[in-house]
Amino acid sequence: MIYSIYAINYNSMKYYLVTFGCQMNKYTSGKVESLLNKLGYTITTQEKEADLILVNTCSVRDSAEERAIGRIRTLAGLKRQNPNLKIGVIGCMAVRLRNSLFELIPRIDFSLGPNETENLPALIEKGSDPLPAIFSGLKEFVAISTGCDNFCSYCIVPFVRGNLVVRQKEAILSEIKELAESGTKEITLLGQDVTSFRLNGTGFPELLSDVARISGIERIRFLTSHPKGVDDQLIDVVAENPKLCPHFHLPLQSGSDRVLRDMNRGYTFDYYFGLINKIRKAIPSSAITTDIIVGFPKEARSDFEATLKAIEMVRPDSSFCFAYSARPGTPAERLPEIDQKEKSERLKRMIELTKKIAGEKNSLLIDTRQDVLIEAKNPKDPKALMGRTITNKVCLFEGGEGLIGKTVPVHITSSSAYTLKGRLG
Ligand code: 5AD
Ligand code: SF4
Repeated sequence: MIYSIYAINYNSMKYYLVTFGCQMNKYTSGKVESLLNKLGYTITTQEKEADLILVNTCSVRDSAEERAIGRIRTLAGLKRQNPNLKIGVIGCMAVRLRNSLFELIPRIDFSLGPNETENLPALIEKGSDPLPAIFSGLKEFVAISTGCDNFCSYCIVPFVRGNLVVRQKEAILSEIKELAESGTKEITLLGQDVTSFRLNGTGFPELLSDVARISGIERIRFLTSHPKGVDDQLIDVVAENPKLCPHFHLPLQSGSDRVLRDMNRGYTFDYYFGLINKIRKAIPSSAITTDIIVGFPKEARSDFEATLKAIEMVRPDSSFCFAYSARPGTPAERLPEIDQKEKSERLKRMIELTKKIAGEKNSLLIDTRQDVLIEAKNPKDPKALMGRTITNKVCLFEGGEGLIGKTVPVHITSSSAYTLKGRLG
């Protein structure tokens, strides 16, 4: 009966979800999706047909907030055609801006901070189940902690996500077992600083060993590692266990000791350089990636030159470079900012250098064989597949769709700063 099909469509509430920001936000959005699906909502990619729109926001830089505000304003315009539409803002901006968010964009219906997502069902008037963990993707994220106690002087995270709260080990392990049983092969353990995980005598290295014992999980990654928290035990555990991917994301932020001190990072460049040399000696195939902030308050030309030199020495496999953005309420906000034009020029130079080095590092892999876990068809070429090496580098090659989910050897034939290309075998 055609009529009933219409009736089903009419009754099924649709939601549209936009996610800005870090991997932690993507993880929360995944939780929100399974929660809404369980409540009978269906996801839509068409914002115009949504009954509920959620925007998961990021406050880490001013530009991220501006992008989100622009998007929310546009989406709020849909209320003209659909007065029943509800719009919720979730994530860090909901905490940082609190009530002023509603003054800024009056058409918002509700907001929820990153630690309050379990209140979503109550807000959309549907009861209040706890957050379920039901995924079955090939690769999934699992949070091991929320918040951060490091208080780097530029960072808004401890203010919006709160102090470090470590998840119970049993909860983490059972979530991963459940994922493994439903077909997940790769897990990324997530925390603002995974190295600060500590619970009744269990540190992060022990947690990694426990996760590696879960059968079905082939690859384990972890993000983000604070350089001051990486010790010999962590390096040894990764070196000894083939399931633990030899990739360390170690934000350097600056190569100038004076700036590092002002940033409250807790290490010098010499310490950082010693650390990555130790990692590379213990695990020669490892990848080191990093984050850099240019134009921190009072950053002199010589400080910036020190960071360029540091990057030449470290030679990261890839780098995320950011222009410093003053965040209200952080200690660095009170420091004098440098000239904006100078800041953009420094950013441009830093991006050029890190891109050049990433290209050179990738070209070293030409003519090697890499184990690639195939994730999907290459979105730009339906005949080709897309996967990642153990060091998390994207690799493209020709092959049949049936291989998706398998780990295969790939002979690398060419490379760029962002990708490797190769052929099976
Ligand atoms: N301005 C610019 N970049 C920042 N980051 C964090 N806070 C700021 C800020 N206020 C960068 C750091 C961090 C990454 C996630 O974002 O490099 O490692
Ligand atoms: Fe922010 Fe520093 Fe914590 Fe990272 S370690 S989330 S930069 S305070």
